[in-house]
Amino acid sequence: MRKYIILTYGCQMNESDSLRMGSELHKLGYEPTTELAEAQVILINTCSVRESAENKIYGKIGEVKHLKAANPELIFGVTGCMAQKEGEKLLKRAPHIDFVLGTNKIHELADIILELSNHPQHIVALAPADGGEPEEVAPPSLENAKSVWLPIMYGCNNFCTYCIVPYVRGREHSRKEADILAEAAAYAKQGVKEITLLGQNVNSYGKNLSGTSFPELLAKLDAISGLERVRYMTSHPRDFSDELISVIAQSKHICSHFHLPLQHASNKLLRKMNRGYTLERYLELVKKVRQAVPEAVITTDLIVGFPGETEEDQAVMLDALREIRYDAAYTFIYSPRSGTPAATMEEQVPQEVKKARLQALMDVQNDISLEKNQAYVGKTVRVMVEGPSKNNPEIYTGRTDGNKLVLWPYRGQEQVGDFLPVKIEKAQTWLLKGIIDDEGK
Ligand code: SAH
Ligand code: SF4
Ligand code: F3S
Repeated sequence: MRKYIILTYGCQMNESDSLRMGSELHKLGYEPTTELAEAQVILINTCSVRESAENKIYGKIGEVKHLKAANPELIFGVTGCMAQKEGEKLLKRAPHIDFVLGTNKIHELADIILELSNHPQHIVALAPADGGEPEEVAPPSLENAKSVWLPIMYGCNNFCTYCIVPYVRGREHSRKEADILAEAAAYAKQGVKEITLLGQNVNSYGKNLSGTSFPELLAKLDAISGLERVRYMTSHPRDFSDELISVIAQSKHICSHFHLPLQHASNKLLRKMNRGYTLERYLELVKKVRQAVPEAVITTDLIVGFPGETEEDQAVMLDALREIRYDAAYTFIYSPRSGTPAATMEEQVPQEVKKARLQALMDVQNDISLEKNQAYVGKTVRVMVEGPSKNNPEIYTGRTDGNKLVLWPYRGQEQVGDFLPVKIEKAQTWLLKGIIDDEGK
């Protein structure tokens, strides 16, 4: 049996693309493996968002070199955002790569593999700079999955000044509403319980279509019978409308998790980042969300060390964290991406300063995250079972409606996709621990 392996870096969009590429390979008769050395097709699906990600990926690309030397029939492709960004240059740097496949090009994968099986050569297939028209690719095969990704839009038009994504993913492009609803309904029919809608900026869904919008799409998905949970990411705080909040508040199945990337709390930096909101407007949004959905779990992304960031800006950030009290924050050190406006801005912050600020930020936020989680101790939460934990098959994991990770000792009956009451006994910064609550709701 011929085998394939796909190594995936980056965001959920890449995870989703990898599953779809896996399905395409499956149709060609390949089976998945988890061993690089066993594979006849190796794909690395890449991310360019930070330099650290790219460096890791270059290391992996290097590792494949000896496998390729040992097995000339091995087909090795680099796909995703770095592929789109670097194109030809990747082949120059690493000639053992057979093909480079850019974003929005997944539909060409099968033909390229066939072509390469017949005539070994180098192939570079990239989307035009604006991303072009992404083509529909058949949804991945499910194999009893209970939770699936569902892309609703591709690309991004926001051009935050630090971010490479609009350059590698092209212009915003929404999928047709009917296609999304049909895909979701088909999933529900096959036993899927949870879908996560994907897009770089989901709340601008529908802008290139007529007669639909993100709130309308959510309301229609909420009504599909069988789907217990609808999640979405990522939403931009600037476009988070009152209508959207009210649709979520009134829905039965749209989860009460709000990921609202703040990036920074200093208005001067928000402006330089081109985020399109002020801290005051953002705080107003958080207030509205909490009023409409009292149990809301709110998380964020933060960047430290953006050009021009001062100690004062950092103090504003720490104060904002104490005021907002996020459930969790994903914190990043600013990484200059060539081709983006911020990379050439003056007053770049030295790496040592960035590191110290990141640590200070994490210290403040970790205490808050822990306190937020401690508030769950003694309460019973409804979790959807995800399966055994990585390190211990006797400990099972699941998630709450608000996307909190919960661990409990396996009872012997619980199956992936079941909903269970778990009584929380212990809280940590990133997770909750409990036991199945027999009297639970
Ligand atoms: N479209 C999403 C996420 C994009 S990338 C959104 O707008 O929220 C995920 C996160 O990576 C961003 O929210 C940001 O915090 C971080 N990020 C993006 N570019 C970065 C850069 N150049 N350096 C450091 N962090 C970055
Ligand atoms: Fe990047 Fe901003 Fe688009 Fe998110 S919204 S992908 S941070 S440009
Ligand atoms: Fe990375 Fe591309 Fe996603 S740059 S974060 S994999 S859109």
